[in-house]
Amino acid sequence: MRVEKAVIPVAGFGTRFLPVTKTQPKEMLPIVDVPVIHYVVEEAVASGISDILFVTSRGKRAIEDYFDRSVDLECLLEHAEKHQMAKALRDISNLADVHFIRQKEPLGLGHAVLLARRHVGNDPFAVLLGDEVFCGQTPCLAQLASIFDSLGGPVVAAQRVSKQEVSNYGIVDARPLSDFLFEVQDLVEKPRVLDAPSDLAVAGRYVLTPDIFPLLSATGPGSGGEIQLTDALRQLARKRTVYALIPSAERHDVGNPVGFIKANILFAVRRGDIGPAVIDFMRDLLIHEATRGQTV
Ligand code: G1P
Repeated sequence: MRVEKAVIPVAGFGTRFLPVTKTQPKEMLPIVDVPVIHYVVEEAVASGISDILFVTSRGKRAIEDYFDRSVDLECLLEHAEKHQMAKALRDISNLADVHFIRQKEPLGLGHAVLLARRHVGNDPFAVLLGDEVFCGQTPCLAQLASIFDSLGGPVVAAQRVSKQEVSNYGIVDARPLSDFLFEVQDLVEKPRVLDAPSDLAVAGRYVLTPDIFPLLSATGPGSGGEIQLTDALRQLARKRTVYALIPSAERHDVGNPVGFIKANILFAVRRGDIGPAVIDFMRDLLIHEATRGQTV
């Protein structure tokens, strides 16, 4: 069965980006001039997803508006003969069939995914975390979906992280099948460095099967007092083969300020229109900072 539905949890408060997230969903923060969530949805669509369920919360209305038509604005642009821009805005609302459900309390990622149960039904589905952006020739989710197609089991994206970082991630105890593909033996959410079974971290893309739902509903609070998707996946891996794939893609963790700034710089310098000006500015800045360092 092909993976056509995706769940995108976007209910988090975004405390690492306060005060801007007091009134603005972190998923709407821009990488240059495109909101982070747009990249996530584009990746899903380019991977064959046609139906997206956002799990939202209070204060996330801007995401609903972003994927809706903005007829007034389109009219204004058409009037001003800015037809391309008007079309670009219309295209956003046609990217996929989008649905929204609210997570009324911040009970964790596992709880957010469980809210998709009725919508997903008996189909395999993808989960994409809204604060990670992947760039690669083949979309990251498409790489996972192709493993799912050929091996028929749930697949999580993984990446190697440094020792200091293991406590920020779900960490996989994995048996290698190749350099990039692993069979998950066990998983632990945000372990202490000493308890981490490896340096292989779960990245924010998953292809899951509906048998995760009964496990999620039986999962109690775990790390951070929240219902963790990792804990349900751990149970799933005891019942069937779950795979981990290191995708061939560049991962940007835009959920923290440094990752966010890095992604903005990278995307800006790669853009034909503004790239040269940004590179000039950065060259001058670096020279200035380096000489300032010498004179201090
Ligand atoms: C979530 C997952 C974690 C995963 C991480 C990837 O954690 O719970 O297993 O490794 O995303 O970014 P969060 O970053 O939401 O705390």
